[in-house]
Amino acid sequence: MAAGEGNVSSVKRQLAQLFELSLRATVPDEPDIVPLVDSCNEKSGVKHGDYQCNNAMVLWAKIKGKKTEFRGPPAVGQAIMKNIPPSEMIESCSVAGPGFVNVVLSKNWIAQSLLRMLIDGIDTWAPQLPVKRAVVDFSSPNIAKEMHVGHLRSTIIGDTLARMLEFSRVEVLRRNHVGDWGTQFGMLIEFLFEKFPNPEEVNEAAIGDLQAFYKASKLRFDSDTEFKQKAQQAVVRLQGGETRYREAWTKICEISRAEFHRVYERLGVQLEEKGESFYNPYIPWVLEELNNKGLIEESEGARVIFVDGVKIPLIVVKSDGGYNYASTDLAALWYRLNEEKAEWIIYLTDVGQQQHFDMVFKAAKRAGWLPVDDSLYPKATHVGFGLVLGEDGKRFRTRSTEVVRLIDLLDEAKTRSEAAIRERETARNWPEEEVKKTSEAVGYGAVKYADLKNNRSSNYTFNFDQMLSDKGNTAVYLLYAHARICSIIRKSGKDIEELKKNGKIVLDHEGERALGLHLVQFSEVVEQACTNLLPSTLCEYLYNLSDIFTSKFYSNCQVIGSPEETSRLLLCEATAVVMRKCFYLLGVEPVYKI
Ligand code: ARG
Repeated sequence: MAAGEGNVSSVKRQLAQLFELSLRATVPDEPDIVPLVDSCNEKSGVKHGDYQCNNAMVLWAKIKGKKTEFRGPPAVGQAIMKNIPPSEMIESCSVAGPGFVNVVLSKNWIAQSLLRMLIDGIDTWAPQLPVKRAVVDFSSPNIAKEMHVGHLRSTIIGDTLARMLEFSRVEVLRRNHVGDWGTQFGMLIEFLFEKFPNPEEVNEAAIGDLQAFYKASKLRFDSDTEFKQKAQQAVVRLQGGETRYREAWTKICEISRAEFHRVYERLGVQLEEKGESFYNPYIPWVLEELNNKGLIEESEGARVIFVDGVKIPLIVVKSDGGYNYASTDLAALWYRLNEEKAEWIIYLTDVGQQQHFDMVFKAAKRAGWLPVDDSLYPKATHVGFGLVLGEDGKRFRTRSTEVVRLIDLLDEAKTRSEAAIRERETARNWPEEEVKKTSEAVGYGAVKYADLKNNRSSNYTFNFDQMLSDKGNTAVYLLYAHARICSIIRKSGKDIEELKKNGKIVLDHEGERALGLHLVQFSEVVEQACTNLLPSTLCEYLYNLSDIFTSKFYSNCQVIGSPEETSRLLLCEATAVVMRKCFYLLGVEPVYKI
């Protein structure tokens, strides 16, 4: 299916369209009222409907001074309700309190929507976003320095955001903005020359751990003034483009890259590297433009940009004449807006870099690159996240090393999940290959999900036992819930493709209806998760889906052997399809057997 073709609007959008028509009919003199439609939240008390329209009060405030036939918000609500065009979506409406218009969806309509989705595929439920192309700048570790758990968070959250945007038919440029340029390279290159006078000998095996190599060279740099001088010259020669220096730099980057790649491969994450060095040639030119616009000032020997609301300025040329992190980010932002024509540029780093991005974006607004109004596009957004903590409440570390090697972490998750799987009765007869595949899916999925389910701006505590538990809000629990649904379908012995063609879904039981309603809300939840850049929204939806399936539907509605078997099997299938899409968007590999 071609992009956009056959797309079905979310329930919320379809209702908003109906209410838009109703509002036009209700107040013809107020043509620009935006309908305020929301799903009803069960937690907030009595539920009068599935959705509600909240326009009456605001509208009343707007029209009460003018000549109007209405006498208060409830009357406005009544009129809005009366003017909803007839629609097969709606079973009934009512007005509550100060004019809230409640809508109960038709269960037949929900059932038909589900069947259509099963036939046409879940991609027809892709949300509609107002952008065509986005840059997601994520992972972005630094060459030869540690790739730490913060980078793991950036990788996991960034990949999910990219997946959700891609599903919403946004073209995503997945950018790895690696720190491959900076003064540390002088020292690394000089140290490399010293250790390997013969450049042929340089390879990953010879260098071994690049972080240790970095440490050793730093030690040398700090203790030996002659070496220090050579290292400083090396930076100049590298930046001047001298072949020998360029080649050494390339080697070091390659070795680092191979290590990063192993992490990405395990996580199933795709990234395209455009490191800091890529933007280096653009910096002088971009700064020139900012200077011409009068943004750049002299301050204590450095060249800086002052922005609103921040006392310290953004340094764009250091007092020694060198460029820095900020100059690179300004050049990168310029490039992404003008060369790559991205409408939304999203950056993932820990919250510690919030001020840096705030200043870069404000500078870009001063330059007129970005609109001042944040609700307009093109837009740049920093997605900050909290720290990963250990059991002791401090920054996460492992016993033996100061920093956590990401590969070891993922290995441990896999090993632990493999041990748990081997203990399961049902897995006794599994072929070895299946045990391995399932342990990987469960182990890596657990690490990812434990991170994604939290509101990203808070810190989260890394705990293997918790994330690998099969109870509670964990990937393990959800993967098993999915596998259980698949096994219900398998056990029925029915061909789901046949049922889709000839069967019908009926939502007469309360549990069936509750499940159906939650399923048709998938699209708007993904849309919300994209708009707010919050993967936790999707995790919450998935967890609730699994809960509704079990507690409301499956524990009350017999599937196999019941008169409603066909319909109920189709509901099982729809649940499994939506769960798998959630897993996919969260970067978790589904399993089909437990
Ligand atoms: N390399 C940086 C770090 O490790 C993250 C880069 C984020 N992206 C950017 N465009 N500044 O902290």
